[in-house]
Amino acid sequence: MDGNGNAARGDAGDNAVLFDQQYVWPGDLTEIPDWVYTDETIYQREVERIFHGPTWNYVALEAEIPNSGDFIRSNVGPTPVVVARAQDGSITVVENRCAHRAAEFCRALTGNANEFVCPYHQWTYDLKGNLIGIPFKRGVGGKGGMPRDFNAAQHGLRSLCVTTHRGVVFASYHDHMESLADYLGSDVLREFDATFDGRKLKVLGHYRHSLPANWKLYLENLKDPYHATLLHTFLVTFGLLVAGNRSLMLTDASGRHGVMASAKSDAGKLSADAKKEMRAYKEGMTLREPRFMDFIAEFDSPWSVTMATIWPNLIVQREMNTLGIRQIVPTGPHELLMKWTMFGFEGDDEEMTRHRLRQGNLMGPAGFLGIEDNEAMKFVQDGMRGVPNKKHLVKLDPQVEAGTSDTLISEAAIRAMYKHWRREMSV
Ligand SMILES: [Fe+2]
Repeated sequence: MDGNGNAARGDAGDNAVLFDQQYVWPGDLTEIPDWVYTDETIYQREVERIFHGPTWNYVALEAEIPNSGDFIRSNVGPTPVVVARAQDGSITVVENRCAHRAAEFCRALTGNANEFVCPYHQWTYDLKGNLIGIPFKRGVGGKGGMPRDFNAAQHGLRSLCVTTHRGVVFASYHDHMESLADYLGSDVLREFDATFDGRKLKVLGHYRHSLPANWKLYLENLKDPYHATLLHTFLVTFGLLVAGNRSLMLTDASGRHGVMASAKSDAGKLSADAKKEMRAYKEGMTLREPRFMDFIAEFDSPWSVTMATIWPNLIVQREMNTLGIRQIVPTGPHELLMKWTMFGFEGDDEEMTRHRLRQGNLMGPAGFLGIEDNEAMKFVQDGMRGVPNKKHLVKLDPQVEAGTSDTLISEAAIRAMYKHWRREMSV
């Protein structure tokens, strides 16, 4: 800025140079600098380049808005949006931000409406985001009101591009996105379609909670099969994800998406060697409710467990018969909101629905596994904040620089994600 408050013409260029000087990735992908998770400038750039960039962001299930007029609040990155089904049946995603004074006008989490009315000054929008009403537009008694030349058509809500696939709704700020199938790539699409297999979805419930960790740590947790064999007593003891299981940590060609896949084994058949490495393994532990671990075959897939991480904000959980969406909503470098939508299928009988809900106790904010992950992520974030300006290690499985690996003792999928992240962020 000069003395008159005018920005000098070179500012943008100077800022880019400053950024390039300040944020330099040290060395190869096997070490990650902590500022990736703790820095406000990095976070702001992530919102701009990733969440508001060329990505398909999960926003809702079609089953949550089956009828015209149905709407549900959601987010793209931290940005609040409303997902609505218009009168013509099409799905629209608009920013939840009034064109007048920026108020988050839609207050109900879900509902059915013909129009959205901002509570502050009652500016009114149709379900496609067109501005259709301004109170006292011409003032009172010839005084006040909006300027004569105000064109409401130019002041609708910011509308995002929308695509749906097998009942799952995605939105993008980018106008020229590839199809979702191309975005996922054939390998990840195959696993996505194994879960969303064409049956109509039935929503079973929602949870939401905050987590004191950077949003990327949540994706990394599900690209880190190594921890699953060590941290989770339940997985290890009951054979859900054990070193030596048939398994795959898949990534797409870009490195941004992943699927952690495993076939359940009989924990009793574990080698003595493997048991020795896993402190969480509890010999002889049994469940009082044996139905909890039942796996009813229903999917065309060799895997009993798949956890898909769809860049940048979606996790699709298929843990035997418990199915769920997790939507990541970052609120800053140090916190995320996790929004869960548990689902089954239309046509499930009462017993199957009970089974899905019962098995759902594995996951969720206080799930048998979930609670351990949540706590571990907090420990990592605390560690990085407590000792600033350091870096940490993701060196496991050097045979795969970054990408798909068929061993659980690997961090190659985390490296793949950062290969992509560095490109998108120009770091
Ligand atoms: Fe975990």
